Amino acid sequence: MTQTAGADSGPTDARVARPRSYLMCPPTFFDVVYSINEWMRPEEPVDTVLAMSQWEHLVGTYRRLGHEVLTIDPVPGLPDMVFVTDSGLVIDGVALGARYRTAQRAAEADHVLRWFRANGLRRPTRPRYVNEGEGDLLVVGDIVCAGTGFRTDERAHAEVARHLVRRVVTLRLIDPRYYHLNTALGVLDDRTIAYLPQAFAPESLTVLRELFPDAIIAAEADTEWLGLNLVSDGLNVVLPGQAHRLADQLADRGYVPVPVDFSEFLKSGGGIKCCTLELRGFRELKASR
Ligand code: ARG
Repeated sequence: MTQTAGADSGPTDARVARPRSYLMCPPTFFDVVYSINEWMRPEEPVDTVLAMSQWEHLVGTYRRLGHEVLTIDPVPGLPDMVFVTDSGLVIDGVALGARYRTAQRAAEADHVLRWFRANGLRRPTRPRYVNEGEGDLLVVGDIVCAGTGFRTDERAHAEVARHLVRRVVTLRLIDPRYYHLNTALGVLDDRTIAYLPQAFAPESLTVLRELFPDAIIAAEADTEWLGLNLVSDGLNVVLPGQAHRLADQLADRGYVPVPVDFSEFLKSGGGIKCCTLELRGFRELKASR
């Protein structure tokens, strides 16, 4: 399926979906029992049945779109493990693990690193500096946009560049509600992003404008539903249903918005992308064995 971009969107690209492999973790033990970001209120109850059905619907959506979903076993006592994207970054089958800033999440990194090893990913390594995986590290074509300011240590960015042999662009976050890069920036394809300008320090905004002059500028009315915490295959963009302005902006640019309800995870400050770790190069790796 191809579509052309709208008149206001610069080059008229044909959008193309590429099949992906995703690692996900069932929200069996998901809960909000501590607060490590501004969204989390332990006194507010979580509907665990609803969370599970929203997560299962997301898995079904990816499979229906032709993507492969692998799962890692959830671990009791790790209520944030459902946000598995924060536990690593995989490019060309090479895996870098995570090192969490907070003690509450520290053990998640070990479980996911073990999964990387058991599933044959190349050079699975624990980083030296605090690094919250695809929470802060977003791949756009050949470059990695790397967030810092709240979670990932800026010194981790050079480690990412070395281990994954990619150019890394540092972006500083300044609003505690948008504490991970993937709450303020969504990757649509190998050269297109959407972002919320007010979440970034002025020098980072200059970098974003230079690198991505055609970016979609999101409105806060959408990002407060974590609308930018989206997952795109290059054509289909899975995003929260409440982010309907962003969905319209995407449709104008030739993408196909795929709205889902992921509201229960907002109570933890997490969204769709947080639950979806992309295993880049995983199919090729399996095929080569
Ligand atoms: N409660 C989790 C935390 O604060 C949510 C993580 C969501 N992940 C994300 N990439 N935004 O760490």
